[in-house]
Amino acid sequence: MLDTTALNQQRNFFDGHAEIWLFGYGSLIWKADFAYLERRPAFITGWERRFWQGSHDHRGTPETPGRVATLIRAKNAICHGMAYRITPEVLAPLDVREKNGYLREKVPLTFVDKQGNGTEQSEGLIYLASDDNPAFLGEAPLTDIAQQIANAHGPSGANKEYLLNLATALRELGAEDDHIFALEHQLRIL
Ligand code: SIN
Repeated sequence: MLDTTALNQQRNFFDGHAEIWLFGYGSLIWKADFAYLERRPAFITGWERRFWQGSHDHRGTPETPGRVATLIRAKNAICHGMAYRITPEVLAPLDVREKNGYLREKVPLTFVDKQGNGTEQSEGLIYLASDDNPAFLGEAPLTDIAQQIANAHGPSGANKEYLLNLATALRELGAEDDHIFALEHQLRIL
């Protein structure tokens, strides 16, 4: 299993910054078990959320991997999530949490106000699992993805909890996400 922890420590895009904005689009939306100074709903453009990344360490096992969220490039798409203002030392434990294929990347993000409108922009950091990482599973029929999620369990818990918590969090944000809500529906009718 590839471990991206050491690679990420060399990806010092925010060296010298006292604070950075981390953009969460998957479990980082609903499981903020790290210290943050402030959080604000935000979105990034040109990316779509997909359950295309394998989870062998959190929501599955090496024998029975689960599926978790990553981002796929998509022109004109908007991906809603949560931005956290953090100090850079918080990245070390996050690198460990995201070690199964995710790499730090720098992206522009837009904050969202209470009316749901985009406001000011900032530089942000995401953890991205791209299609060349060994844990990438890629596209599959929605029913197959839902079945895999229904069956998988790992050290962090049931895979279905990840999907259902993410769908609930996106609904609370007022965010559209056809892929996530269709998968949630599939999981519930299994
Ligand atoms: C994220 O949430 O932003 C990255 C993927 C994950 O940890 O679920």
